[in-house]
Amino acid sequence: MKLLSLSAQEMIPLKSESDLEVLRLSGKILSRVMQKLARSIKPGITTAEIDNLALEFIKTENARSAFKGYRGYPAHVCTSINEEIVHGIPDNRVLKDSDIISLDIGIDYRGYFTDAAITLAVGKIDLLIKKLIEVTETSLYEGIKLAKPGNHLSDISHGIQSYVERNGFSVVREFVGHGIGLKLHEEPEIPNFGPPGEGPVLKEGMVLAIEPMVNLGRWESEILPNGWTAVTKDNLPSAHFEHTVAITSKGAEILTK
Ligand code: MF3
Ligand code: CO
Repeated sequence: MKLLSLSAQEMIPLKSESDLEVLRLSGKILSRVMQKLARSIKPGITTAEIDNLALEFIKTENARSAFKGYRGYPAHVCTSINEEIVHGIPDNRVLKDSDIISLDIGIDYRGYFTDAAITLAVGKIDLLIKKLIEVTETSLYEGIKLAKPGNHLSDISHGIQSYVERNGFSVVREFVGHGIGLKLHEEPEIPNFGPPGEGPVLKEGMVLAIEPMVNLGRWESEILPNGWTAVTKDNLPSAHFEHTVAITSKGAEILTK
């Protein structure tokens, strides 16, 4: 989601065990949809075809796209190619060998929302871009490790940023992760950068969508004239991974695994 503000202490809704039961189902459905969609990614497919498949897979699971119509968003998934960071809109563009594409999907299953993203190689890609994808995915797991009761929210942010920068890449500032559950976007905002030990203390029952967006070059981004798609200012590639996680007494439970 788009960064609104870095507010200090926020009202973060806590989920009950019965909420979590449905959120687990929602997350399982989303991960099945994501896996099926990932298998369809190959040179020659258009992003509109990907969107149609996503709609079909989501419908089959008796769920609904959380993105379609959200603030006027026109499609069921986000398909962000190469220098596109997030919110790429499916159209007649054809994927070609050496592209990378991030698939971002949010679903609403019986009023319970989960959100996830992965970045995939189309055909054969450059070694450095492969490293960008690997570092972005690992940075998500570095953040998730820190998502446990007693830690501060910004411990997640700091864990992601330090892992990414240690590996020579940069984190996007203008878009952030978010609370999720009964709505697509709930409090708090979860930046992928910042010092440790700040912001609210994490508690059992919080559900968070953690989503590092990592650039090969500089962190600066801008929005295309369609009003949605964020791209890197330097036009170098960007990768994105996201999971919805629940904070439990044992640590983070990944709902969208
Ligand atoms: N995961 C992204 C986010 O939380 C996707 C939102 S797409 C939108 O911002 F269409 F719903 F905005
Ligand atoms: Co999200």
